[in-house]
Amino acid sequence: MASVACGIDIGGSGVKGAVVDLVTGEFIGDRVRIDTPKPATPDAVAETCKAVLEQLGVGPGTPVGIAFPAPIIHGVVPFMANLDQSWVGIDVNELMQRHLGRPVTPLNDADAAGLAEVAFGAAKGVEGTVIVTTLGTGIGSAVVVDGTLVPNTELGHLEIDGHDAESQASAGQKTLQGLSWEEWAGRLQRYYSHVEMLFSPDLFVVGGGVSKNHAKFMPLLHLRTRMVPAQLFNTAGIVGAAYQASRKAE
Ligand code: BGC
Repeated sequence: MASVACGIDIGGSGVKGAVVDLVTGEFIGDRVRIDTPKPATPDAVAETCKAVLEQLGVGPGTPVGIAFPAPIIHGVVPFMANLDQSWVGIDVNELMQRHLGRPVTPLNDADAAGLAEVAFGAAKGVEGTVIVTTLGTGIGSAVVVDGTLVPNTELGHLEIDGHDAESQASAGQKTLQGLSWEEWAGRLQRYYSHVEMLFSPDLFVVGGGVSKNHAKFMPLLHLRTRMVPAQLFNTAGIVGAAYQASRKAE
């Protein structure tokens, strides 16, 4: 496994990248962030990824992983919830090869965060079933069993009480609907109880920007399963993408 790789995390508002030391899980040098183009079409986003790589000065020998806010099934985007709909059906490997002139390792953003938490963060060394959820604009999920990722779980789109779960319980909805921490915690309780019933995990790790405020909502939740905040906060997507790229480059 290469000990240094580059990770890029594509989000609704920013495309962020860094070179990552895969021994420590820390960034080497500064993180680069460029606003996500509007509209966020595949060609426009791929050009932004190119600019991120250029600003980071990433050479051809460094593996590059890219995290997307969508499932990536054998390189292809089957559906897209929170970025431009023109992504549906796109072969990400072909797109990035055309724009960046190099192969990349694409993966789902929550899967990247999950891998990073298992390798370097809150789920390091935990045996059994770990479910990492990212609470942001949507809800992302990563299911990791004894260190092995089950890719492309989409537990943010579970249908609960007739609704797509992320349309009720994401951090984005908390902001949009002006929910108090208590109101939002009620929705999270419904969500996590359901996931707990389905999977009986050994640990929940809660990530996404809002996890910095975990003290405001986590104590309000009552679950059998231990729940801890993510440790990598904003860096998990980048670190996990770099980690996966490095593993694939073996
Ligand atoms: C997408 C997932 C993604 C999550 C977080 C959901 O709407 O379907 O693939 O991981 O948002 O970005």
